[in-house]
Amino acid sequence: MSRDKHKLLRVDPERLWRRHIDMSKLGSTDRGGVNRAALTIPDVELHLELASWARERNFEVEIDDYGNQFMRRAGSEPQCHALVSGSHSDTQPTGGRFDGISGVLAAMEALEVIDDAQICTRHPIEVVVWNNEEGTRFSPSDMGSAVYVGQTPIERMLAATDDEGVSMAIAVNTLRASIDWAIERQLGTPISAYLELHIEQGPILENENIDIGIVTGIQGTRKFEVRITGEEAHAGTTPESNRQDAFMDAVKVVNALQEIFFDPEDKVRFTIGRFEVSPGSLAVVPGHVLFTIDFRHPENTVLQILGDQIAEVCKKTATRCTTQVVETRSAPSTLFGNVVQEVIEECAKQRTYSFKYLPSGAGHDARYMNSFCPTGMVFVPCRKGISHNEKEYASPDSLAKGAQVVVDSLLMLDGLI
Ligand code: GLV
Ligand code: MN
Ligand code: MN
Repeated sequence: MSRDKHKLLRVDPERLWRRHIDMSKLGSTDRGGVNRAALTIPDVELHLELASWARERNFEVEIDDYGNQFMRRAGSEPQCHALVSGSHSDTQPTGGRFDGISGVLAAMEALEVIDDAQICTRHPIEVVVWNNEEGTRFSPSDMGSAVYVGQTPIERMLAATDDEGVSMAIAVNTLRASIDWAIERQLGTPISAYLELHIEQGPILENENIDIGIVTGIQGTRKFEVRITGEEAHAGTTPESNRQDAFMDAVKVVNALQEIFFDPEDKVRFTIGRFEVSPGSLAVVPGHVLFTIDFRHPENTVLQILGDQIAEVCKKTATRCTTQVVETRSAPSTLFGNVVQEVIEECAKQRTYSFKYLPSGAGHDARYMNSFCPTGMVFVPCRKGISHNEKEYASPDSLAKGAQVVVDSLLMLDGLI
């Protein structure tokens, strides 16, 4: 197709915004955010809604064994694998209305705009909804894309259970039963290129008044669970010298870890997001503590050196209790290749949108896709960089510009690869 023809295509900003608002009602919280854990009822409803839109336009709907859902507009050349765009639909428990779903809705907008213009693309173009990106109901995160590309064995991931003991396998069956007309998708089906739109989740684009972020890569991460085990005892009768207080040892461990992770350059990201004391009773000396560590850094050597010290620091610092450290997820820093970045830049320039190259501090499914096919990401500004928070906000105009770049980039990639 000619460039001029594709320049005529325009996303529909009102439709895109309305869909953000409609989707945010699935799992909405009292404070204006969204709590939509992977494959809970609101999340399955959302998958069904997307599938219905797809069906109205005769797009095929496919679901793979791990519950990743694809909506496909056919291409003209059978040897061309799909160009895929999308993100995730699950949220943090106090999540916002844009993290994840904006990438899915931008991709759906692209398919519909291309369909309305009756453009015949060489490649099929697909929207993907990756299952369980946030990892809050089923741990660890980013499972859908990791399983799809074969980086993580599916059996182990399907066996993961939520707090009620429901397995991912059962949750995936619930999704399948709700869209029982969907076609079976083989995990690892080849993809020609992957493009993910996401809110930036940081303040740079907004501060610098930039329309489009072109993501250069994703910083590495290591995630841990630390268990500290002492002995439960009576709070009124047990002398300090006889106590094996798991909480008190945990406090010492956390302070020691904070010291080794202190970074004058402020590049280290070290978070203890979950901290559980048990039995959690006023009158019982705690016998057990569980806490998580989310550690991220752009340099793999730093990830290795600091991350490898955690177990030793815990063992040395907890003087009265035993400690156990389990690494639950790790992924090195990833750099995206040039192909998709250059296409995004070209498309932003054609629309006279301002753009900036920047790395991602947050994790995304694009990390795993990058090992599988040419991959890139478009960031759009979000207010004050706030994310993983019910206050998260991206403007209709920012979302529309990002979606426009997704449409244009998919069409440019269709002519390029
Ligand atoms: C994704 O939500 C992340 O935690 O980076
Ligand atoms: Mn996300
Ligand atoms: Mn997130």
